[in-house]
Amino acid sequence: MYPRVEINLEGILHNLHILRSKCEEQGSSLSLVTKVLGGRRQLVKYITEISGITSICDSRVYNLAYFYELDVEKWLIRSPMISEAETVVKYADVSLNSELKVIEALNETAIKHNKKHKIVLMCECGDLREGCYEEELLQIIEKCRTMDGIEIYGIGTNLSCLNEVLPSEENMAEFVRLVEKAEECYGSEFRYISGGASSSIPMLFSGKLDKKINHLRFGEAVFLGNIPVYDKPFENAEINNFILQAEVIELKEKPASPEIPRDDCTNLRKRAIVAVGKQDIDIKGLSVLDERIEIVAGSSDHVVLDVTNCGDEINVGSIISFRMNYNCLLNAMTSPYIKEHIV
Ligand SMILES: Cc1ncc(COP(=O)(O)O)c(C=O)c1O
Repeated sequence: MYPRVEINLEGILHNLHILRSKCEEQGSSLSLVTKVLGGRRQLVKYITEISGITSICDSRVYNLAYFYELDVEKWLIRSPMISEAETVVKYADVSLNSELKVIEALNETAIKHNKKHKIVLMCECGDLREGCYEEELLQIIEKCRTMDGIEIYGIGTNLSCLNEVLPSEENMAEFVRLVEKAEECYGSEFRYISGGASSSIPMLFSGKLDKKINHLRFGEAVFLGNIPVYDKPFENAEINNFILQAEVIELKEKPASPEIPRDDCTNLRKRAIVAVGKQDIDIKGLSVLDERIEIVAGSSDHVVLDVTNCGDEINVGSIISFRMNYNCLLNAMTSPYIKEHIV
C-alpha cells in the first residue's frame, strides 16, 4: 500500500550506538527523542530493548501514554499544559518546565495521586523558545522546596529549535553558570544537567561540551543521521533510514509552464504525478533519490515530478522514492494516510 515510509531499523540502531558511545565517553547519558515515531509502541520497544536505552523523551504526552508499559523512563519535553496535568502525572516520569503555574498544577495532581513528579527546569540560553532567566529560575526553585509532589530532577536548556542559535562555548558557559547558581540556591547538585539536542553533536564530538553537562536529548541525529542547522551528517552516520515511497498516477508530456499552449510548445516535458501531497508531507522537505528526477510542484494531494531524463523507465504504477528532512518526516509519520514498512 502506498504512500508508505520504509524504515531501516538497523540504520537507526547504528546511529544510536555511535551517539551513545560518544556521550558515554564524555560522561553524558543520552535520551532518545521518539516524537518522530508517532506513538508506535512496537518500534520504540524494539529500539529501546535492542539498544539498551533506558530513557525516552517525547513532546506529546499522548505518545508517552502508548509507551506506558515499556520499561524505560519517560520524559515529556514540551512544557505540560495546565489542562493536561492529570495525564502528565500519570504517563510521564519527568517533564521539562519553565512556568510556576504549571508546576503548581503538577504538584497538586501528584499529591492527589500520592506521587512525586520529577521536573527539569529549563533555562533560556539564547534561542528564545522555552526557558527562564536567572531570577525566575531561582524563584521557582525556592517555591518547589515547599511542594511535596515535586522533585527537581535537573536543569536543562534547549537551543537551535526556534532561532537556529547553535550551542557555543559562550552560551554553554552561561548555562553552566545558571546551573551552578541553581544548585547553590537548592543546596545540592541536581541529578541531570540536560544540555541540549542534536545540534550539540559538534561540541560533543570535539570534547568541548562542559563536563558539568551529563545528559543530552537526541532525535534528528539518531533517526536521520543529520545535525540540525549545520544540515550535514555526523561522521559514519546512516542517513537513509526513512524513505518515502509514492506511486505514479499520471504520466504525460506537458509544457514546462502553464503560460505556453501545448501546441506551440517545442520543449514538452515528461511529467509524473505521484499520489502524496501537502496534506501528508512538507514538499519543500522532499528530495528524490533518483537524481534524474526533479520535483516541479505540489498541491494537497499531488506531487508533480519532471521525469524527462528517465527515458521510458517511469510508468503509471511506478514507485518513486524520496528522502525527507526531519520536519517532512514528522509530517509523514503522523499522517494517517501514510503507512510504515519495516525493512
Ligand atoms: C526540548 C527538546 N529537546 C530535544 C529535542 C530533540 O531535538 P533534535 O531532534 O534536534 O535532537 C527537541 C525537539 O524535538 C526538543 O524540543
